[in-house]
Amino acid sequence: MFLQRRNRILRVGPSIRSLVAETTLTPNDFIVPLFIDEGENISTEIASMPGYYRRSLDLTLLEVKELWSLGIKSVLLFIKCKDEWKDNTGQEAWNANGLMQRSIKAIKDAIPEMVVMTDVALDPYSIYGHDGIVKDGEIVNDETVDALVKMSVSHAHAGADLVAPSDMMDGRIGAIREGLEESGFTKTGIMAYSAKYASCFYGPFRDALDSAPGFGDKKTYQMNYANRLEAIKETLMDIEEGADIVMVKPGLPYLDVIREVKNAVNVPVSAYNISGEYSMIKAAAKMGWLDEDKAIIETLTAFKRAGADLIATYFAKDAAKLLNK
Ligand code: PBG
Repeated sequence: MFLQRRNRILRVGPSIRSLVAETTLTPNDFIVPLFIDEGENISTEIASMPGYYRRSLDLTLLEVKELWSLGIKSVLLFIKCKDEWKDNTGQEAWNANGLMQRSIKAIKDAIPEMVVMTDVALDPYSIYGHDGIVKDGEIVNDETVDALVKMSVSHAHAGADLVAPSDMMDGRIGAIREGLEESGFTKTGIMAYSAKYASCFYGPFRDALDSAPGFGDKKTYQMNYANRLEAIKETLMDIEEGADIVMVKPGLPYLDVIREVKNAVNVPVSAYNISGEYSMIKAAAKMGWLDEDKAIIETLTAFKRAGADLIATYFAKDAAKLLNK
């Protein structure tokens, strides 16, 4: 054969392959979700997320220091609320001395440069396990938005760098931005979970926080996974309302949506490699069916290739260790 083009030339060895790689993965790309519990010296492995833990704040601080030493620059906080503090208003969510508020402050005190993001939604605080206030069996939008604004302002007050509304109520980004402005928090950002789909892959996360919906499902607020254009509509509206970073969630079954969003916007795009995606790789690795380390790096690189600027992932620490080798 006398070929004009031989594509294998650029694959011949590791050096040339790295030189022409279109995508790179670094610890700067990662946001680490952390599950925080009341108490001291507590570390509970989440049954459906082997190797991932819910920790009391003291142990969370040790973890955050280790993450920082690995080059990781951001954490995303979730707390587990005690049953006796749950109700239908979610008021524990804006308790100035609540676990979330104490955690934000403690982490910022320990490592001021760590970018602290916080999940904003009522589900961990709701007796119904829904992201909003329930009335006559429905999740009401506008009253929920009022609660989310209070929650966001209280996170800002505690020192959060970005609040991350994951509730999918209409108009919440604009309302939160206004609330932050009115309270003088002009340096607090918003990472909007803009295209968040009603997904079965959230299951293990709901185990971690004991936050599964007590009735029905989340389909009246989270998006139908059959839809693509709706993701663009949601995302553009969130940007118009003041989102600094937008997010697509889940991640792996939605790489097409990540790319579509990336092409449509001029703000950083993040993606959430969610709990069920973590558990699938863990389970396959445990069975000896997949090489876990390789699956992690390939998966996270795929997120970058799809257009994610940032990736929230339970694999962040493992990946940072692998990348730092
Ligand atoms: C809460 C929230 C959820 C996740 C992040 N924030 C669960 C849900 O919407 O039911 C899921 C994260 C994961 O599965 O890793 N609104």
